[in-house]
Amino acid sequence: MKAVVYDGPMRVRVEDVAEPVITAPTDVLVQITTTNICGSDLHMYEGRTTMETGRILGHENLGEVVDVGPAVVSVKIGDRVCLPFNISCGFCRNCEKGLTAYCLTNNPDPGMVGAAYGFAGMGPYDGGQAEYLRVPFGDSNCLKLPDDAQEKETDYVMLSDIFPTGWHCTELAGLQPGDAVVVYGAGPVGLMAAHSAVIKGAAKVMIVDRRPDRLKLAEQIGVIAIDDSQGSALEQILEETKGVGADCGCECIGYQAHDPHGHEDPSMVLNDLVRAVKFTGGIGVVGLYLPQDPGAQDDDRRKGRIAFEMGDFWLKGQRMGTGQANVKRYNRELRDLIHEGKAKPSWIVSHELPLSDAPSAYEHFDARDDGWTKVVLKPRLMAL
Ligand SMILES: NC(=O)c1ccc[n+]([C@@H]2O[C@H](COP(=O)([O-])OP(=O)(O)OC[C@H]3O[C@@H](n4cnc5c(N)ncnc54)[C@H](O)[C@@H]3O)[C@@H](O)[C@H]2O)c1
Ligand SMILES: [Zn+2]
Ligand SMILES: [Zn+2]
Repeated sequence: MKAVVYDGPMRVRVEDVAEPVITAPTDVLVQITTTNICGSDLHMYEGRTTMETGRILGHENLGEVVDVGPAVVSVKIGDRVCLPFNISCGFCRNCEKGLTAYCLTNNPDPGMVGAAYGFAGMGPYDGGQAEYLRVPFGDSNCLKLPDDAQEKETDYVMLSDIFPTGWHCTELAGLQPGDAVVVYGAGPVGLMAAHSAVIKGAAKVMIVDRRPDRLKLAEQIGVIAIDDSQGSALEQILEETKGVGADCGCECIGYQAHDPHGHEDPSMVLNDLVRAVKFTGGIGVVGLYLPQDPGAQDDDRRKGRIAFEMGDFWLKGQRMGTGQANVKRYNRELRDLIHEGKAKPSWIVSHELPLSDAPSAYEHFDARDDGWTKVVLKPRLMAL
């Protein structure tokens, strides 16, 4: 089969690889019909993680079940399913509590918990930017889709990661109906946090970025766009909140945050959020921060240490929640919002391309070229 393989910094290849097979009785085999490129893939693509060359990328996957192991009971051949990017067993102490990003049984690395498809440090699992994907613990990991699965495929595929992740960020921030919330980063994850905040009944949703195409998408759903290349974002947030600051804030950028001129500083957005959020407000951090950043410019950053302004954070009595999203905790309900027409995450999709276009799609998406907001790859489409 064809698959997108990481080939070292700034390189992916579409390669012929062996098709996956059922290896455990609880496995499900899925023919992938839609698989996204994510901002998380870009950290790996840029060589800013410990990702090994030769591995298949892709953790935002949706497809049709083509085979099931003998111990699978709830999933059948022909089911259309969306797969959470976290691989969870469903029976460990963390999974039982809904903490499926921290599954205790699926990551063989000593001292690590949590697993994902095609992801640095998250176990040996192949990604789904390919024609087929082996899904461990199929009963736990397959979210079955309703009869509009094909019609709304680009909506449902967002249940694999970014929609639940955006939702999770608003949960970590403690967002309540009527709140004013500020989201940093209008990439796919930030736009999903904004979409979630609107659905949850926030009184005011603000989003900070400097990419006009992405800010425009935010405005389409009634979000206040703050362009930090045109002036201080903090001043605009304080103006919008009568000098008090937002009730809560969402960090949807991660350790490669930079100023509008491209100067990178991993502490920048966390400190911006401390300033932009009111005393006692909550901050959710879903943007990725790493314990090792081999490509960083100094020794502290290479060890994942950043200059966080703990004093101001403490003085303001704020709270912060971090980490990967427990996709399974939300994906069923968010699926139903899509099915009932109350959520439409596909409004951010800018490109639907054949799998063979992956190398150029990675290049454009990584450059954040104008109009490249969210790329969806279609393994069944043949390149012209
Ligand atoms: N926690 C999770 O489970 C989870 C899941 C998916 C993605 N992520 C992470 O979320 C982050 C965002 O993902 P994405 O797909 O939206 O990526 P993205 O890189 O496409 O989007 C990031 C956006 O932030 C903007 N930006 C950069 N620095 C900024 C700054 N200082 N101020 C304001 N805006 C700034 C960029 O212009 C860009 O539009 C990544 O770190 C990704 O790894 C986490
Ligand atoms: Zn992702
Ligand atoms: Zn588990």
